[in-house]
Amino acid sequence: MDKHTVLVTGGAGFIGSHACVELLQAGFNVVVVDNLSNSKLESLKRVEQITGKTLQFYQADIRDKTALTDIFAKESIATVIHFAGLKAVGESCEQPLNYYHNNVYGTLVLLEAMSEANVKQLVFSSSATVYQPSETGQYSESLPLGAINPYGRSKVMVEDILRDVAAVDKIKPNGAPWKVALLRYFNPIGAHESGMIGEDPNGIPNNLMPYVSQVAIGNLKQLSVYGNDYATPDGTGIRDYIHVVDLVKGHIKAIEAIESDKFSGGGCKAYNLGTGKGYSVLDIVNTFEAVTGRKILYQFAPRRAGDLAECFANPALADKELNWIADKDLEDMIADTWNWQVKNPQGYVD
Ligand code: NAD
Ligand code: UD1
Repeated sequence: MDKHTVLVTGGAGFIGSHACVELLQAGFNVVVVDNLSNSKLESLKRVEQITGKTLQFYQADIRDKTALTDIFAKESIATVIHFAGLKAVGESCEQPLNYYHNNVYGTLVLLEAMSEANVKQLVFSSSATVYQPSETGQYSESLPLGAINPYGRSKVMVEDILRDVAAVDKIKPNGAPWKVALLRYFNPIGAHESGMIGEDPNGIPNNLMPYVSQVAIGNLKQLSVYGNDYATPDGTGIRDYIHVVDLVKGHIKAIEAIESDKFSGGGCKAYNLGTGKGYSVLDIVNTFEAVTGRKILYQFAPRRAGDLAECFANPALADKELNWIADKDLEDMIADTWNWQVKNPQGYVD
């Protein structure tokens, strides 16, 4: 087994493509499995251009056990980073079965294939959305879980499955133990500094930053600010935005931790990946205007169902145990988002 080969599920997507760059630059071999349901092959071509290195790509669905078994047989995989899944909250309320099938069943198939191949190191893309809403707005890993929509519940279910799977080793040691890092992302934005890879949502974006950026470039007319009557300083919702490159660096740190004494007995541990700082929707609009010199037309609209007033990380555990902190500030995140948007006004064109 090559200690340095990482299988990246969902590697052609927004976060996965940035992870591939970081992994290749850190000297890992990269194997990607993606069904391209929400991405284009072009992103991986650009990953190779940025790094000057090649990766191995398999177009397959993680629910296809035969395909996964073949990949594990062909490649000497040491660790899996599992990004593949569906991620739109609104859509998950419309299509719960599709979400549970991709996110929960897909993960089960992946875990079975890993188990059979005796690959038991996993970094999983979880989300801040797993937490039960709290009054304070700040979330530490010890707070209770309790997602409020099917997407969030699919993440809680996968976390529960992974905790159960890792716990078996404690009771019945059977060779290599499972070593699992659950990384709970806050709001990833930004793009690689080259502007060659970035976020390329299908249709009209649901999330704030791609929406603002498409208003700025002229693809969309104006932003609707969902709610200006929250109990926040300017009345708009506050979130913990994190640069996607900082976020993926957290995955490299998680692999290092998994391979160190910290995980020597195996186990499953959750870490918040956020900056710990909150910015309101109007902070984003104002900073976007200041950084880019573009005017962002906006109107206030009713609150969006399911939104919280405030959500930001306590990132202390990742600092302590993974030796990871976010480095880039909001100006960097916006400048890099804009650089990607200007260079790719229609996103990736295959
Ligand atoms: P993305 O949609 O850009 O990437 C996901 C990738 O997985 C896509 O390339 C898609 O084609 C692929 N995929 C989906 N279902 C698949 C399947 N069944 N088999 C194979 N490939 C499949 O999303 P992203 O923003 O890069 O998110 C990556 C992960 O991080 C997801 O699990 C998401 O839930 C999680 N996450 C994202 C955010 C965020 O704000 N972007 C926040 C928290 C957690
Ligand atoms: C949403 C998801 C969350 C997911 C994350 C990243 C919900 C309820 N939560 O988080 O589970 O992990 O995306 O994919 O959907 N806003 C506007 N106008 C817009 C868009 C957003 O005012 O057009 C506001 C929102 O009300 C919120 C903030 O901007 O206050 C951020 O929204 P968004 O980018 O969608 O992220 P979250 O809602 O935090």
